Order: sequence, then structure tokens, then C-alpha cells
Amino acid sequence: MKERLDDMTNQWWKNSVVYQIYPRSFKDSNGDGIGDLNGITEKLDYLVQLGVDVVWLSPVYESPNDDNGYDIRHYQKIMDSFGTMEDWENMLKEMHARGIKLIMDLVINHTSDEHAWFIESRQSKDNDYRDFYIWRPGKNGQPPNNWAANFGGSAWQYDEQTDEYYLHLFSKKQPDLNWENPALRSKLYDMIRWWLDKGIDGFRMDVINFISKDQRFPDGDADANQTYVSGHRYFMNGPRVHEFLQELHTEALAGHDILTVGEMPGVTPEEGKLYTASERKELNMVFHFEHMDIDSGPHGKWDVKPWSLVELKQILSKWQLALETEGWNSLYWNNHDQPRVVSRFGCDGAYRVVSAKMLATTLHMMKGTPYIYQGEELGMTNAHFDSIDQYRDIETINMYNEQMAAGRKPEDIMEAIHVKSRDNARTPMQWNSHPQAGFTTGEPWIAVHPNYKTVNADAALADPNSIFHYYRKLIELRKKYAIIVHGSFTLLAPKSEEIFAYRRSYQGEQLLVISNFTKMKASFQVPESFQHLKLKQVLIGNYPDSLSKDITPEIPMRPYETIVYHFIS
Ligand code: NOJ
Repeated sequence: MKERLDDMTNQWWKNSVVYQIYPRSFKDSNGDGIGDLNGITEKLDYLVQLGVDVVWLSPVYESPNDDNGYDIRHYQKIMDSFGTMEDWENMLKEMHARGIKLIMDLVINHTSDEHAWFIESRQSKDNDYRDFYIWRPGKNGQPPNNWAANFGGSAWQYDEQTDEYYLHLFSKKQPDLNWENPALRSKLYDMIRWWLDKGIDGFRMDVINFISKDQRFPDGDADANQTYVSGHRYFMNGPRVHEFLQELHTEALAGHDILTVGEMPGVTPEEGKLYTASERKELNMVFHFEHMDIDSGPHGKWDVKPWSLVELKQILSKWQLALETEGWNSLYWNNHDQPRVVSRFGCDGAYRVVSAKMLATTLHMMKGTPYIYQGEELGMTNAHFDSIDQYRDIETINMYNEQMAAGRKPEDIMEAIHVKSRDNARTPMQWNSHPQAGFTTGEPWIAVHPNYKTVNADAALADPNSIFHYYRKLIELRKKYAIIVHGSFTLLAPKSEEIFAYRRSYQGEQLLVISNFTKMKASFQVPESFQHLKLKQVLIGNYPDSLSKDITPEIPMRPYETIVYHFIS
């Protein structure tokens, strides 16, 4: 089936590749050990070389940094350690001068508890800002319900001043906003319009499918082993979420030619379609997490379990098909909350380079807008710190302390941290082989990965076979071949535990994408339906002889090999 014609016109974000910058770890220009806006501006030509179209900038707003900027104290001010509003304006100007668009992170499910609205809200029950947040009385000296916060403990914090609890789905310094209140919504829309008027090109919306809560605030399903349990059924994709997003669109976004992407944990493909079908006027694309959960056991992300390729394929294929004609997907392996993909689904040892290229190909040849997270294009690997003292992430540290208090062995907890901590993705960008990887002349806020002497941007730029140049080529291909953007998707060999293969079809052309996800040799049986087609070329592959690799009925695949054949009928 084809996309509807009106879906294909003037939607630049469908042909774009997004690069995510986590500013704290990208480039420090003033030696204080913290990345900053001028550091980003310095490195824009690097992004031009890579060929990306859009930058998604994680929060740079004023914040006490309980959660590295995802706890906003002032929506219209820049965090001191990142620079000034003039620095930000200069960065935007320099981006636009290079043809790069900017989308800002919009965190409107919660603010910091140091935001002026919350400071007012907690003063008294009849304060004008009281209902900007979610306050409830306790039940017999206990929180209003049994919901757990994402960063540990109850999702409710008691406040003595008014003898009530406020809801915080993340840390207690991140109180949830009350979207039921039209006065709050109207203030948020003003703020969104203010940023759009500054000339930005869109927003990445943080946990945007959490904004509508079931107003009965029911208990989550009891678990004999846990005091606090997930209440997600009552706030993920909640009762009024579509109404709120449509209102946000009408009041603040309509008339702007922008990219909007919703970060949506727990979203289903059916919901994803509702959020992103163009005629519904909500968001352009969904950023789901289903494939990021395949190595999580029944007790959540820290309960690490082996992942299966069959499941990974099944999930990604399901999303490809569900949003084939309506709505739009984001494609990603990495962001600032996830482990490094080459360590997770590839091999960060002997096959680091080939496996990073294989993963990139598998993702970038699918339908949707690809996201590259800083350092992914260098094949940066997980952090693996020896001591908990080297970790900075609130989620990791809270979990460690909770589990220690529960009597678990530190080495077992560290094992999970090595696999899943968000700090895996937050070590400084590796620019060169100078001290601190060229990230800072000072002491970095989090340690640099010791492999920076070999894994760094300078080395990658100088090597024509680097992961960086491979990503550059993938981006170029997307610009050149409409089939990569618009072609339909069919998963092949769904049961194979070694090979991830699929077909893309568009206007008489076909792509056959084959990737070996193992360090062993494997093979792929080419379906008969390809036999009447004419092979035009090999578009890309990750071995030196890939471009001349024959197509045979049974294709031998070397460790972590990937190849893309392009056929015409
Ligand atoms: C999702 C963000 O990606 C994550 O980093 C943050 O901790 C939570 N939302 C809360 O804002």
C-alpha cells in the first residue's frame, strides 16, 4: 500500500535524519568540565560533514539538575553552565546558516520543584497556582495511592506546609503538572509559541503520553514483593491525552512548518497511529520503546535478561507495518537514556566496527525518521565504571542505594548497572586523542571512556572506512533513493535467530537488506520472488568487497555482515 499523496508533500521531516545532542557531554568550550552551547556551535561543521538535517537538543533550560535538565526551573532561560540566551541565539543562527534545523526538548509533563509555579503552588491550598500541580490528601498517613516513581520510592511526596501529597512520576524534585487545569495549559502554550517565535524548527516532547492521568488515581495492581507498583495503566496514554495534544496543536503549533516527535513509553502501535496520523493534528512522529525493553525481565529494566533477535525483528516489523500508510515512526537504537547499541546488540570487542555498521544499516534502511545519538557515529561503547561513585545518573544511584538497603550484593547490582545505566550513553563525546578526549580542558563532570585514544572523531574522519563515513553514506543514500523513505516493508525469515532481513518495495524497485547479528558465519536463502528481478547494484555493505558481492540463491554472511541489494523489475 502507498502512503496517501497528501502525506508525502512538504513533509521535510520524512526525508530527514536527526542528530541528538546531550549538551552536558558534547563539547565544553570554557574548561568547566560541562559541555555548553558555544561548544556545540564550534562543532557544527562536524555535523555538516556527517550530513544530518536536524539537531534535537536535550534540555538547556535553567535547572537545578536533579535529572540533568529534565527538571526545568525556568522555561525561558538558559542554564548558566550551558551559556546565555545570546549563545543560544548565535548557535541557532549558525545552525540555520548551515542548513541544519533545531528541535528543542519540551518537558511539559513536569517541572522542577524550584519552578516559580511550584514554589507558589505549595504555599497554600488556595494559592492561584495550587492547581498547576497534582495535590491529594494522604490515606491514613500513607500516600494517596501505591504508585511507584520512575526513580524509586513512592510517586507521591508529602508536603508539611499544607499537609498534602504531590504527584511526581519521576524524582521528587520533578512534580507533575496538572493538565486538567486550563490555566496551566494556556501558560504552556504561551511558552511554546514564544520558542517558536524565536525561529526553532520543532520539539521533541518528553514523556508526552503521560500528561493525562486517570483522575480517580486508582491503585496499581498489588505485588506482594513491592510496596509501590507501576501505575502506568492510569497515566500512560491516559483518558484526555489526545484531546490535550489536539488542543496544543491548535493553540500553539498550527501554522508552523515544524517537526514534532513524542517520546512515548508504553505506547502501542494502534495508539502510535492515533498520535501521528496527519489528519488528527497531534504530532508528526512517535518515539516508542518496545524494542528497548527486550532485555528487561519481569521486574523491569534492571532485571536484565538475554534478548532474542526473533523478538527484536517481530517488534520492529510490527511497528513498520502498523504505521505504513498512516502516522510516522522514529528509528533509533540509542539516546541519552539507553545503553550504547554496539555494546548492547552488537559486539564492542573485536567486531566493534563491523557490528556498528551492521546495526546502522539495519536501522537506516527501514521506514521512518532515523535518529543518531552523539557518538553513535563513532561506535562509542558502554561506560563500565568500577565504582558506583563514578556514576552521576539519579536513576542509577537511587536504584543502587535501594538495592543495597534491600541486602543485595554490590557486585550483582553493578552487573546490571554495567548493562543498563543511562550513564553508558552520557560519557563525554570523544573528539580526539588529547587528554579528556578533547571534550574539555578541565575536569569532566563524568569520566571519559578510556578507549578514546582509538575511538574518536579525529581518527574516524581520517579513516575512509570508519563508522562515521559509513553513517555519512547511509544518510546520503536516504537523500538519493525515495524507496528508503517511502517504500513498504516486509520482514523476511522471521524465525531466523541469526539473520535480520527485510524487503522494501516502491514503484517497481526493491531493496533486500540482510544483516547477520552474530559473530558466526550464517547464510540467507533468497526468496524466489526476487529471482525475476534485475539486480541494479549493491547499495552499501560493511566488508571491503561488499559492493561486488554476488547475489546467489543462498547468500553466505560473514560475522556481523550486512548488505543492501537494489533491484529493478
Ligand atoms: C525522559 C527523558 O528522556 C529522561 O532522560 C528523563 O529522565 C525523563 N523523561 C523525565 O523527564
